[in-house]
Order: sequence, then structure tokens, then C-alpha cells
Amino acid sequence: MLIEDGSEALPDQPTVDDIYGYAFRAGEEAGGRPGVARLIYEFSTGALVSEDVTRYFADQEYWWPGDVLACGQAAGRVLVVGCGVGRHATAVAQAGHDVVGLDPSSQAVAVARRRGVDARIGGIPDLPDGLGTFDTFLFAGGGLFLLSGPNGQKALRALAEVANRGARIVGTNVIPFVDETGTSTRDSSRQAGPVRHRMRVKHGSRLTAWSRWEPIDRPTMAQLEISARDTGWSIEETHRTVSPFAPELEHTTNSAGIGDDVMETGSVAVVMVRMRLVG
Ligand SMILES: C[S@@+](CC[C@H](N)C(=O)[O-])C[C@H]1O[C@@H](n2cnc3c(N)ncnc32)[C@H](O)[C@@H]1O
Repeated sequence: MLIEDGSEALPDQPTVDDIYGYAFRAGEEAGGRPGVARLIYEFSTGALVSEDVTRYFADQEYWWPGDVLACGQAAGRVLVVGCGVGRHATAVAQAGHDVVGLDPSSQAVAVARRRGVDARIGGIPDLPDGLGTFDTFLFAGGGLFLLSGPNGQKALRALAEVANRGARIVGTNVIPFVDETGTSTRDSSRQAGPVRHRMRVKHGSRLTAWSRWEPIDRPTMAQLEISARDTGWSIEETHRTVSPFAPELEHTTNSAGIGDDVMETGSVAVVMVRMRLVG
């Protein structure tokens, strides 16, 4: 159901497709105040990881260093793919670029627009019409997973269609389950096959249903290289850093009721990748 500002009315118990939009609305209502709305990710290993939704509204000082690096490499006209509420789009626009944000979540787009971002509803691989052409496609916040898997090659071809000469893709890929030195903590004997996760969101007294179990299909560099084959895109630079999964936002509490036994932070490896359209 659409309401007047173009966003959708929230169902009583949102599904996985609503989760980010729902959380973003909760974060907006909280006015960026930490401790009000959380995302809980439960992994098939039994690990529980929690993040404060206001992380998605936070300034650069709370970003993964890989995302700061990726945004710093934006050039010319920029399409921010999976823009969420627009934290990266806003920073890149402030740096003087013409920026369009793109996200399939109408609620995310509504929040991003209220925050001053030229945000459009849509996603990859089927880009909406009328976007124009771009010099940079930004996949920050770990968004490079969108270029892996069966849709990766189709998505890269679709981006090439709206790319200016010499265009670049910059973004980050997240590798979970590492310790603070970047060494994998996965027990390979117990973790055969893809790792799966599911998540739910708590906001006040409302709690979403658990999402479906989804594979964590993060693109390794090899997967990204496979996606790039015959698309004209080529990997030009990678830079790996190890960061806390979630930043320690001021005044964060677990007062929402769930999450007392949930890790607030754990480490992830964040790989900044730059690709160039050469074909
Ligand atoms: C974890 S959030 C990150 C948002 C933002 N990149 C950030 O870091 O603040 C992932 C976002 O990707 C969006 N998304 C999911 N599938 C997508 C697709 N096929 N194309 C573009 N965005 C997508 C979701 O709606 C969600 O807003």
C-alpha cells in the first residue's frame, strides 16, 4: 500500500524484503540517535552479530576505511548502487560530484530523498530507464556482493551500457568471520558448504519475523573476475583492510531487549576494489 510520500505502509510483520527499509525508517524516526533500532544477523554457525541501524546514517569517521577509500576514488558523475539512506551519496555529492542514488527499497529511497539525495527506485541488473550515463558506479557498504553470482555478469553488462568512456566501478566486498588480524575464524571441518545467515530486526516492541535462510555469497576476487569476463570491465586495484563489523556508536545500548547475548562488534575483512571499463 502506498502512502502520500511515496513510501509503502509498513506491514505488521515485515518480510526480508522490507527489513532494510523498515530499519531505515526506524533509524530516521530515531533522528540518528543510537540504541533505538538494531539489525540482528544470525549466522548458521550460531554466531549472532548486531548492528545499530543509525550506523547507516553516521558520518565518515564511523565508516569502514575501505568505504572511505572507495568514495575518495569517485570521479565525474556517480551512480550509488544500493544507496540505502544515502550516507555515501551525500558525502560524494559534498565532494562536488553529480550523484544519483539507486535502491529497490522504496522506503530507503524515500528516506534518502528526505536527506537531499537524488534517489531513484531500482536496482541491478535491470536498471530503470532515464538514469543517464555515469563515470563512476559506487558499491560502498559491502555492495560488491551484488556483482557476484548468476546476476553478476548481466549487471556488469547493464552498467557498461550506461557508462561513459573509461568509467570505473569502486566499492567494497566484506569477508565475515575473521579475527582482528584478518585470519579466518571459520572452522573448515564444521563449515563445509556455503555459510548461510538470516536476520531479524527489533525496533521498540516490534520484531520482524526471521528472514529466510540466505547463503552468504560474498564475491571473492575470483568470483568477481569470473563475473567480469567478456563484459569490458577489468579489476584494476584491490586494497584489503580489517575493521570492526559495526562501529561503536556513542550511547549504544542493548535496551531494545534482544541482543544482550549478541556481539556488538566482531571483525570483518573489507576489500576495496576498483574496476575499469576497458572494452
Ligand atoms: C546493507 S544495505 C547498505 C546500504 C548502503 N550501501 C550503505 O552502506 O549505507 C544494502 C542495500 O542494498 C539494497 N539492494 C538490495 N538489492 C539490490 C539490487 N539488486 N540493486 C541495488 N540495490 C540493492 C537494499 O535495498 C539495501 O538498501
